[in-house]
Amino acid sequence: MRSKIVAGNWKMNLSQTEAKALCKEVNKLNIGSEIEVYIFPPMLYASDCKAISTRVKVGAQNAHPKDQGAFTGEVSMWQLKEAGMDAVLIGHSERREYFQEDNALLKQKLDSALAHGIRPFFCCGEPLGIRQDNSFLSYVKNQLEESVFHLSAAEFEKVVLAYEPIWAIGTGQTASTEQAEEMHAAIRSWVGEKYGKETAEKTSILYGGSCNPSNAQALFACENVDGGLIGGASLKAADFSVLVAEGTWTILN
Ligand code: PGA
Repeated sequence: MRSKIVAGNWKMNLSQTEAKALCKEVNKLNIGSEIEVYIFPPMLYASDCKAISTRVKVGAQNAHPKDQGAFTGEVSMWQLKEAGMDAVLIGHSERREYFQEDNALLKQKLDSALAHGIRPFFCCGEPLGIRQDNSFLSYVKNQLEESVFHLSAAEFEKVVLAYEPIWAIGTGQTASTEQAEEMHAAIRSWVGEKYGKETAEKTSILYGGSCNPSNAQALFACENVDGGLIGGASLKAADFSVLVAEGTWTILN
């Protein structure tokens, strides 16, 4: 059975005091027994959060693929590992859009994360124009082919995939369950073609984009949706508590 995962991407939000307080609250939530929970705080607070966290795993929102060197302002996967980080986000659309991260660079980041034993959460997803011209399946497939599908099956099994349609991120315009399920089923079928059915069945594919307490239950009930990568709704413990609660996952299943 594949892991059910709820991950909070805090982006560039919260003061240090607020981040520590939220981390403490998240660790005290009533989390479903089979649900893995990750938080991705701003890098500066990640070690504080790691020190506080018991039930919840902690990751970084980004890292550089090289281990060390003259890359002012960057932090490496190797350094994340040294600092005890569990995971890293790779290929979030905000990194792709605002920092010009392309599929080739994301491939290097993925390789580096795996080399250092950091669990990569690889994000993919199409912009609105691609959704509207109906080429979204081939667009996302290409993202996976250019950044992910060079991995061996053993490496790939450590990767969590997150489908995040860009038009749904931070907009309040969630993908419908039909739209999410169509893409998630397609992603699982491509993984199956590349790595075999058994690996495809074990792959966790998260949905991200305006996922919140009012729509999570329906999204998480989709056959191929294995959880969520949550932005806005991860910043309030009360909202996040609904997403990680056992009941949100089981009532419709
Ligand atoms: P959102 O962000 O939940 O605020 O739409 C999701 C994400 O960017 O991972």
